[in-house]
Amino acid sequence: MAQRAIVTLPDPVLRERAREVSAEQLASSEVQALIDDMIETMRAASGAGLAANQVGELLRIAVIEVAGRNPRYPYKPPIALTVIVNPVIEPLDDERFAVNEGCLSIPDTRGVVERHVNVRVRHLDRHGAAHDVVRRGLTAGTFQHELDHLDGVLFVDRVADPATLTTWAQFEREHRAAFEQRARELVARVGS
Ligand code: NI
Repeated sequence: MAQRAIVTLPDPVLRERAREVSAEQLASSEVQALIDDMIETMRAASGAGLAANQVGELLRIAVIEVAGRNPRYPYKPPIALTVIVNPVIEPLDDERFAVNEGCLSIPDTRGVVERHVNVRVRHLDRHGAAHDVVRRGLTAGTFQHELDHLDGVLFVDRVADPATLTTWAQFEREHRAAFEQRARELVARVGS
């Protein structure tokens, strides 16, 4: 395994739609090594997720994990390591939550994005097995953020009010306490 360089805005690879992964591609040593590298890169950067576009590969693969207390997002509930390949996401209802998000590809920037609270995610894992799961709350938001990457969409594109954009230091000072309170209430109510 090796860490890969994380691509940052405005690299155009972040704006491209990643391609579906065939069964043959997924089984290849190249793609399996890419997945290993994405996991290592996400962990080294304390990310909650990483999409293949972010390491310059236009394949519909993302990795997600919140192990214990994530230093970037200490209010996120744990998520076991999940490799999603060719994911499809579908909101289960109209409920939304205003999430304060960040992204490894947009350094020192946070902003408020509306995300669906309850979603169904269908995807393959790294071995090609099909999964059909319901994700809720902040975890649902994390899945939506990673799926957006695979479509070339960044969280800043979904920030409805540019006045919510801050540095991480400003977020800590001015918004973190209130957001964490709302986030914990959401997690307590809907789970993950
Ligand atoms: Ni991101």
